[in-house]
Amino acid sequence: MTLWGGRFEEGPAELLWRFTVDHSDRRLLTDDVIGSQAHAAMLAETGIISSEEGAELQRGLVAVLAEAESGEFAWSEGDEDVHSAVERRLYELIGEVAGKLHTGRSRNDQVCLDLRLYLRRATEERAVQITDLVKALIAVAEEVGDTVVASYTHVQQAQAVPLAHHLLAYAWMLVRDLDRFLDAYPRIDVSPLGAGASAGSRLPLDPSQTAESLGFASVFANSMDAVGSRDFVAEYVFCCAQTMVTLSRLSEEMVLWAGDEFGWATFGDAYTTGSSAMPQKKNPDIAELVRGKTATVIGDVTALLSLQKGLPLTYNRDLQEDKRAVFHADDTLALALAALGGMVESAQFHPPEPSSMVTALDLAEILVARGVPFRSAHEAVGGLVAGLAAGGRALADATAGELAAAHPQLVPEDLDALTPAASAAARVTPGGGSMESVAKQIEQLREVLG
Ligand code: ARG
Repeated sequence: MTLWGGRFEEGPAELLWRFTVDHSDRRLLTDDVIGSQAHAAMLAETGIISSEEGAELQRGLVAVLAEAESGEFAWSEGDEDVHSAVERRLYELIGEVAGKLHTGRSRNDQVCLDLRLYLRRATEERAVQITDLVKALIAVAEEVGDTVVASYTHVQQAQAVPLAHHLLAYAWMLVRDLDRFLDAYPRIDVSPLGAGASAGSRLPLDPSQTAESLGFASVFANSMDAVGSRDFVAEYVFCCAQTMVTLSRLSEEMVLWAGDEFGWATFGDAYTTGSSAMPQKKNPDIAELVRGKTATVIGDVTALLSLQKGLPLTYNRDLQEDKRAVFHADDTLALALAALGGMVESAQFHPPEPSSMVTALDLAEILVARGVPFRSAHEAVGGLVAGLAAGGRALADATAGELAAAHPQLVPEDLDALTPAASAAARVTPGGGSMESVAKQIEQLREVLG
């Protein structure tokens, strides 16, 4: 059933139907019915329809909602979209009075309402999932204790840090991703119902009543903006994409860690895959696919921005395409958070000790503490490192004589500072790579999550 037969003498061409009808909005079914219940209640309360008619509509909508929730709702090939399907079903259940539901409403404000209801719930679900992943990272950080690894810059070993410090960097990135979703929430939480087709109505609708009954924090101020804008959708999808990018960076590291050359971690059998040819392989496919799927979610952001850029006000059918992109982005993120979370929880860490060359900056800072200008200290330690490296040795292999030769203010006891563990233990910067900092961060993260 279409909602617009009156002025047409011919029915729709099969090709028109095939090209214009997109069933991806079917997942808005319960939201559509809940929005319709609020609309019908407002129509009765404002006296636009009688209270008997209002009660009939509610009776029918309760039945449609039950069918929607139990999965028994039967779609018909003739339903142009989810809104048409609900009205068609309502008509089957309660007859002519169903025709009163769409009073003062258009699919233009209706589809916007459905999307906003959907995205409010999706935001809450993604927030819980991100929080869970942060908690999983904290748990792993606690589990690995004071294990020391190298931090990397340019994929070259840089300084000695607790492995926990490295893992918690991702926890902080995810906390910002979470914050971004929460920040976008009030821009989703605005009711567009009552905006109608584009300009509102000559009927005495009460948009604030429907907004309140649906729990919206605010109501549209401009009907044309309400039905013609999708920045809230694009913003949600950006939040998904940025979170995917965080997961993708973590994934890239997990792939490296699992590799023989790094050998930092082994992931559980249940979270890795085998090779059809090479019996020895245990592949980190989840992490690789998170990386790959991130590309497609970035594509969704591009799609939503492009969708808006040339659109005149108000509603244009182009906007129907927003649903595919937002559902794809949200579904992909939801599954990625869950799957990668499982993989993180299954990790066993056993990183090899980094080269003692990661203590080079420590040695320079020891000299600085004795009054040597940093530039001269850097030069002296650089010379020492070059000599040792030429002989296939690292800083921990230096002799007291070599230290003294590198700089007269170095003493034999300085050799004790030249192990990765000693380096991490000597770190004092707040927020730096030390166990004190790790303990503080875990406390701060728990506070933020609480
Ligand atoms: N299926 C449409 C969409 O998703 C609903 C709004 C249709 N409005 C209209 N005037 N054709 O955007």
